[in-house]
This record gives sequence, structure tokens and C-alpha cells, in this order.
Amino acid sequence: MFWTIHHLDSTESTNDLAAKAGESGVPEGAIFVADVQTRGRGRAGRSWYSAPGLGLYASLLLRPRVEPSVAPLFTLLAGVAVFEALRPMLPAEKHLDIKWPNDLLVGNKKVGGILCQTALEGARIKYVVVGIGINVHHLLFPEELQPVATSLALEAGGPWDCPRILDQIRPRFDFWYNGLLRGETETLLRRWSQCSTYTEGKQVTWMEGDRPVSGITRGLASSGALRVQREDGSVELVLSGDVWGRT
Ligand code: BTN
Repeated sequence: MFWTIHHLDSTESTNDLAAKAGESGVPEGAIFVADVQTRGRGRAGRSWYSAPGLGLYASLLLRPRVEPSVAPLFTLLAGVAVFEALRPMLPAEKHLDIKWPNDLLVGNKKVGGILCQTALEGARIKYVVVGIGINVHHLLFPEELQPVATSLALEAGGPWDCPRILDQIRPRFDFWYNGLLRGETETLLRRWSQCSTYTEGKQVTWMEGDRPVSGITRGLASSGALRVQREDGSVELVLSGDVWGRT
């Protein structure tokens, strides 16, 4: 992929910029990176803590020629690409994990997240935005995030360099993106499963409407959904949302 990086000092959300570019016909491969986001967005309508100069805040614009049913796999793809970029940069004793579908965890705390948006035009994908947020230089988080968030600096000292991290992510993203365009879904799912302890045998809780339900993970479906076995033995698919793991 020929990537073109657009760097901004500050923006509301790099995902919004990439989506605007997607609407206005900018070719795929544009990456929007900002030093600070004033309205960084997370999944499920949450905000993403995007303090100035502390994190990597980047959004990739793609125009994949695949069926819309493939869209959820971009989330898993991005998780694998970020995992593979970060793994060699972290000390071996640090446990890097992907929590389904795409939270990057170190020692059960969140170090990165991915927010994918797909825009359709009729029955085809017009564009996909893959937003990647990584906590890099943070030494202190706002109080409410402290129990759940961590950063590369907190886990492994420094120095860290955001452009370099993005440089490491791009080739891993290219590799898996090209595979997915060739229809190599199973290879991607297998790789995701190797990167995550959430694939098999993990006790998780998720919401069905406003009711929390629990089960044990039983691998990924080919759609990218998480297969979960309930206490009564029935297996169901969790298609989206959050799962909470117990270790
Ligand atoms: C999540 O885990 O909830 C997803 C977080 C995604 C954050 C990134 S930062 C760059 C891009 N721009 C946004 O507004 N969000 C994503």
C-alpha cells in the first residue's frame, strides 16, 4: 500500500478527518495522525483520552473491494497488526494480549484501542476508517482510568517514538490487509487466536440488552464473532460490544 501521512498538531478526532476524506474521494492509504485530539472517540460512544503529545492517535483510510460482511474482520486485522508491531518492542516478560475484539492489553490493562468505521454505498463498502490509539508516554492517567489503563512508558520505560511505532504498524497492516483482500480469512483468524488469550477457555461476561451473561470462550466464528458457551452448554455468538474477562 502506498501510505500518505497527514500530520496535524491538533484535531477533534482523526477518525472524523479520515471519514471526511473517505466521503470526499481521497484514495485509500491516507493516514491522519494528530499530536492531540480534542474529542478522541472510543468504542460504544465512549471518549478516548488523547492528551497532547502522549499517545499515538492515527486513522487509516481504506477502500477495500470486499463484501460488507468482511468489515468486522478489519477490527481483528488491526489488532493483529498493532500486536505484531508492539510485541518486539516490549520486554519478553510483559504479557501483551488482545481482548476481543481489539483492545490491546499489557498485564490486563489497556495500552491501546481500535475504532473501525465502515461506510457503505448501496451494497458495497465505500470506505473503512481504522482508528488506532496507543498510550505511549503517559506516566499518570486521570483517576478513573488508573485501574484500567497503562502506557508503553509505564510498562517498559522509554524512550518511545510515536512515528516509529506507526512505521512498525504499517508493514504488519499491509501484510494482513493484502491477505484479507485475497480472501485469507482463516489465516487471519488463526493468527488473531495466537495473539489473544480470549480465544479459548476464557471466562467472560457480556451484556445481552441490559442483562449481564457469562460463559466460556470457544474460538472465533469465520465472521470474526466470538463463540461463547453458556452454562447450559449452548454456544452462542457475541457479535459486537464488550466482554469482560476473568483470569
Ligand atoms: C476503543 O478502545 O474504545 C477504541 C479507541 C480508539 C482511539 C483512536 S485514537 C485515533 C482514532 N481517533 C479517534 O477519535 N479514535 C481513534
